[in-house]
Amino acid sequence: MNKYILYVITLIFLSSMPLSGAVYKGQREFSKKCISCHSKPQEFISSLTIEQWEEQIGKDGEKLAKVHTSNEKAQESWKYFNSEKYKKKLKHLRDFLVEFAKDSGNVPTCN
Ligand code: HEC
Repeated sequence: MNKYILYVITLIFLSSMPLSGAVYKGQREFSKKCISCHSKPQEFISSLTIEQWEEQIGKDGEKLAKVHTSNEKAQESWKYFNSEKYKKKLKHLRDFLVEFAKDSGNVPTCN
């Protein structure tokens, strides 16, 4: 392998860092806020395609919030879905969910 190829690989690697950073933040948010009710995140997330996730989340996350705030069983999450924090973290959460969606090609195989 020559130096040039190594250089290109390094560049590609570095440029993918910000993305994985966002995905990581989303994963942390999911473990803090969602996992108490949606255990088995792998199964849960990879059960939907990217398009289905986008649809579930909706514009500005309104749809996802509504699924919860209109459901008695999700009462514990109402405070979170009505908070500013949810709006702020939504971008990361979305990155994370879409990253591991069914058709993303990123579903971890070793579990
Ligand atoms: C307090 C419990 C609770 C928390 C916390 C919670 N959910 Fe839910 N969630 C529910 C319930 C209950 C439903 C409705 C499921 C049903 O009707 O079968 C639901 C439904 C959903 C759905 C619709 C698809 C489905 O399975 O019905 C998605 C997507 C979802 N939740 C994502 C999330 C995400 C992302 C978070 C974290 C930001 C989260 N939930 C946090 C309880 C919760």
